[in-house]
Amino acid sequence: MSRTVYVNGEYVPEEEAKVSVFDRGFLFADGVYEVTSVLDGKLIDFDGHAKRLERSLNELDMDMPMGRDALLDIHRELVRRNGIGDGLIYLQVTRGAADRDFAYPEGATPTVVLFTQAKPGLADAPLAKEGMKIISIPDLRWGRRDIKTVQLLYPSMGKMAAKAAGAHDAWMVEDDHVTEGTSNNAYIVKDGTIVTRHLGNEILHGITRAAVLRFAREAQMQVEERAFTLEEAKQADEAFVTSASTFVMPVVSIDGVAVGEGVPGPVATRLRDIYLEESRKAAI
Ligand code: PDD
Repeated sequence: MSRTVYVNGEYVPEEEAKVSVFDRGFLFADGVYEVTSVLDGKLIDFDGHAKRLERSLNELDMDMPMGRDALLDIHRELVRRNGIGDGLIYLQVTRGAADRDFAYPEGATPTVVLFTQAKPGLADAPLAKEGMKIISIPDLRWGRRDIKTVQLLYPSMGKMAAKAAGAHDAWMVEDDHVTEGTSNNAYIVKDGTIVTRHLGNEILHGITRAAVLRFAREAQMQVEERAFTLEEAKQADEAFVTSASTFVMPVVSIDGVAVGEGVPGPVATRLRDIYLEESRKAAI
């Protein structure tokens, strides 16, 4: 069945959605994106995603193409038109179309695209019971990973390397320390303390990360925001990742080494439950 997508002010069937070959998103990866999850037809953490979108755009000298309420209306209209119960909304804003030149063009009109991905049972993913197998790869991305740009080729290569190794995903390592997963933030648990890398230019400032750390602190769990080594991760009691599409997902092995008991741990499992419960309550 054809989806209805949003392109520059119009709702159109996906087959009719068109963007210029001169679009700078296509030519220079000159654009940013957000992925927001939908549970029971409602948006999870919409405001966090809208704020990060604005931050990413600002870092690239672009303005928000519309206000928060207009953006929310489009998200909701796409959920409605596509009958999404559980799924994802992908949003992309590029600098727009202009003759090819490295310098930013003056006065280009941004391209705004949104589409839905239906994911029935998103919150009941069997992988949450099984846990993810992770491999490590060097982090060869650029230095502004805090900006959520559409240049995702290295993460794609990482996912393919994981697949070839019979694993689910890859964690990226720089100077012996884990930065993050290819499309998620990385955590370990040692002696009851949750450890995740501090914010900086080296990682994406995950919206799920912010919520999960808030919930963990509210539940009196110990949290340390600092870099951890790959070796520490292999010797941790537990490991997990967070993202809008996986929520909290346990990790059970790293480079073939079992983490803890080699099954999803109690902290990750509890945080997943809390996150899903609280996020559903706050969904809009
Ligand atoms: N990825 N780190 C990276 C590199 C990411 O691509 C993502 C999200 C995250 C988690 O951020 P958040 O909690 O805001 O989803 C961390 C999305 C889901 C994606 O590219 O599909």
